[in-house]
Amino acid sequence: MADYDFDVLVIGAGPGGYVAAIRAAQLGLKTACAEARETLGGTCLNVGCIPSKAMLHASELFQEAASGALAKLGVKIDQMSLDLDTMHGQRRDAVNQLTGGIEYLFKKNKVEWLKGRAAFQDAHTVAVGNRTVTAKNIVIATGSTVTPLPGVEIDQQVVVDSTGALELPKVPGHLVVIGGGVIGLELGSVWRRLGAKVTVVEYLDQVLPGMDGEVRKEANKIFKKQGFEFKLSTKVTKVERQGGGAVLTVEPAAGGAAETIEADVVLVAIGRRANTDGLALDKSGLALNQRGQIEIDHDFGTQVPGIWAIGDVVPGPMLAHKAEDEGIAVAENIAGLTGIVNHDVIPGVVYTAPEIAGVGLTEEQARERGKVKVGKFPMLANSRAKTNHEPDGFVKVIADADSDRVLGVWCIASVAGTMIAQAAQAMEFGATSEDIAYTCHAHPTHSEAIKEAAMAVQGKPIHM
Ligand code: FAD
Ligand code: NAI
Repeated sequence: MADYDFDVLVIGAGPGGYVAAIRAAQLGLKTACAEARETLGGTCLNVGCIPSKAMLHASELFQEAASGALAKLGVKIDQMSLDLDTMHGQRRDAVNQLTGGIEYLFKKNKVEWLKGRAAFQDAHTVAVGNRTVTAKNIVIATGSTVTPLPGVEIDQQVVVDSTGALELPKVPGHLVVIGGGVIGLELGSVWRRLGAKVTVVEYLDQVLPGMDGEVRKEANKIFKKQGFEFKLSTKVTKVERQGGGAVLTVEPAAGGAAETIEADVVLVAIGRRANTDGLALDKSGLALNQRGQIEIDHDFGTQVPGIWAIGDVVPGPMLAHKAEDEGIAVAENIAGLTGIVNHDVIPGVVYTAPEIAGVGLTEEQARERGKVKVGKFPMLANSRAKTNHEPDGFVKVIADADSDRVLGVWCIASVAGTMIAQAAQAMEFGATSEDIAYTCHAHPTHSEAIKEAAMAVQGKPIHM
């Protein structure tokens, strides 16, 4: 048998890669992880999940104070102002602490961090910086990068991607977001709350593609109430720099008269694509699919034995927790255990206010597959949401009409991201709506709305 430097080499230290590396090391495998960035944690910790949530949290507090919402609770602030530098500082602190935490975990678990961009030399040999190492197993976890809009150059000043939008040095007068998806609505919310006018230009006829239809419509209404302007079914044909800002030319997606929109800053957020740049995959024997992704089997193995892939670089939702779970599973499979991820039960959360979350099938998908029963409960009728002055949103439970098995749960609520965990767990255990309805939920909590929506599947909610 050939001798290798490592049992496992993971390429990429995002939530997929760093978790795979730690789990592999925990299982007794000699493990290294190559990372091209200066810090560990990938997109998520450096320029994604964590900094965006830091800005969402701080901007929400700012808005609660500035809008008078706190004054209505008796919390009067006579003088308040925005200190954007401090807000950015706490974002950077959160990132530094968490990326440093991964470095600590690597040391603790004896994962060797290989600094530099990795490029294959053959299926078991990889060059990283000035080193060349061999590994019996290689896990590709190189993540994703921003999908560019043809003809629109990102300069991170006037035309920015999500990374630039996290770091704007001042609140733009008018922010135009191209793409009404998760990034557009989360980062649009940050700058809207801090005082920007925000216009979202979306190609489709509704925001948040992939989510439940009713949830998308309700979300649209709520964001409009918050001051967002939407130009749906609209495409951007040109973005030109002018003065210190930009002028966008837009027209109906189906074709028609063009109009222009002036912007101080333009955020391009039209999706992300798998990242295999510089990996020299051809030398490994691996080919990409038509969407530039690495195809895998049920065990996360690729078509080349000994090469595995996980996270944003493979097909499926581009979510940190999905990447993490795949990281654990791939390490267990490499170690000869059975690592499984149930891709039918991956929750998704949009961290706006209120939060928007879902797991499983949308009502439209469920109805396509067969007969369903649907129960809904408005947050307005939930005692905790009402007490907290959070009337917007609802919970929807979708169950199979015959077996009552829960097929999907959708929530719009201030803490929907936390609430959705119980729905995911129930679905993982094969729960029926009756199981949820007969589970005791603490009072007063927002989660009681899930119980009531489950009761509504049988037509019997109490508080409605
Ligand atoms: P990544 O995190 O992209 O990590 C890949 C790493 O590989 C990178 O650090 C890269 O430098 C490195 N790399 C690439 N090529 C090489 C190479 N050849 N050699 C060495 N290293 C290499 N998801 C959520 O679930 N919740 C959220 O709230 C959320 N918020 C987001 C907010 C924003 C603004 C963005 C952009 C994304 C957000 N996401 C969120 C998505 C989440 O960040 C990704 O799904 C997740 O990071 C994917 O993990 P990964 O390990 O597959 O890849
Ligand atoms: P997205 O796929 O969520 O949304 C992109 C939007 O842009 C879609 O609505 C699409 O119809 C629209 N679009 C595409 N081309 C367009 C065009 N030419 N003109 C106008 N609109 C156009 O992608 P987004 O927001 O860029 O996010 C990328 C990924 O990052 C997502 O897949 C998401 O999973 C992940 N992410 C997750 C977060 C979370 O879990 N909270 C937060 C932020 C990102």
